[in-house]
Amino acid sequence: MTASFDVSAASEYLRSRIESVPAVCIVLGSGLSAIEGELTEAAVIPFEDVPGFPAPTVEGHAGRYVVGRIGGAQVLLQSGRFHHYEGHSPEVVAAPVRIAAALGVRGLVLTNASGAIRPTLEPGDLLVLSDHINLMFRSPLVGPVRPGETRFPDMSAAYDPRLRHLALEVAVETGEDLHEGTYVAMLGPSYETPAEVRMLGGLGADVVGMSTVPEVLVARALGLRCVAFSVVTNHAAGLGSGGLSHRDVLDVGASAGARLAALLTVLIPRVADELSRG
Ligand code: HPA
Repeated sequence: MTASFDVSAASEYLRSRIESVPAVCIVLGSGLSAIEGELTEAAVIPFEDVPGFPAPTVEGHAGRYVVGRIGGAQVLLQSGRFHHYEGHSPEVVAAPVRIAAALGVRGLVLTNASGAIRPTLEPGDLLVLSDHINLMFRSPLVGPVRPGETRFPDMSAAYDPRLRHLALEVAVETGEDLHEGTYVAMLGPSYETPAEVRMLGGLGADVVGMSTVPEVLVARALGLRCVAFSVVTNHAAGLGSGGLSHRDVLDVGASAGARLAALLTVLIPRVADELSRG
């Protein structure tokens, strides 16, 4: 059940390709790769070079690491991720987080695309996650406790309050209208039905997506600090005027993703600074 992934082999390979270990890893979701262009002194490592990594299967997911600097801070940018809906095991979905931690990364900045459930949210809005609901009905923490992980991670502040505060501060400074809310993770790959969306709203979710939560679970078990952003790409099923398509998700993600990239460009050096304080 827990098909194993060789985290050491992958992290040793990456270490051999990068000069020094960044404190921050940025995980980019569907069509949100705009920030790649902001990195200086960038070195690209395609996922296919990393031992054990499967080839990405989803349009909009590039599948590469870019190591470089944003405003002086060194970052490990993970452009693309592995999803449960692609058929990947929890081990594979969580592998990049375990690899980042093995490299010495101390904080994760995660991004994703989502559908709006809260009626006041619109496509193109940006949201910093305050909490999540895991309705994937799986967890990469099931099974033996991995080295460096805790058996029962506390999830009462899964999304680091200090990093969220920094994000909101940067949003005010840069004139971005950054919302806050709860993300519910579904297995996918089908989008939700309108009845499911009504249920999810009743459960307290503001946006819905198909990623991020497995990574945050492992990050918290490893003691990594997390901040996560959602680009609202559509009204969740039944709440907008038409149906949903991955193409629309990518198109809205690309335009709003540029605003997210602008926010992250200012935020990342502050996150790196905060992480260096411990
Ligand atoms: N549902 C689930 N995942 C998503 C959505 C959605 O409406 N939009 C973008 N990712």
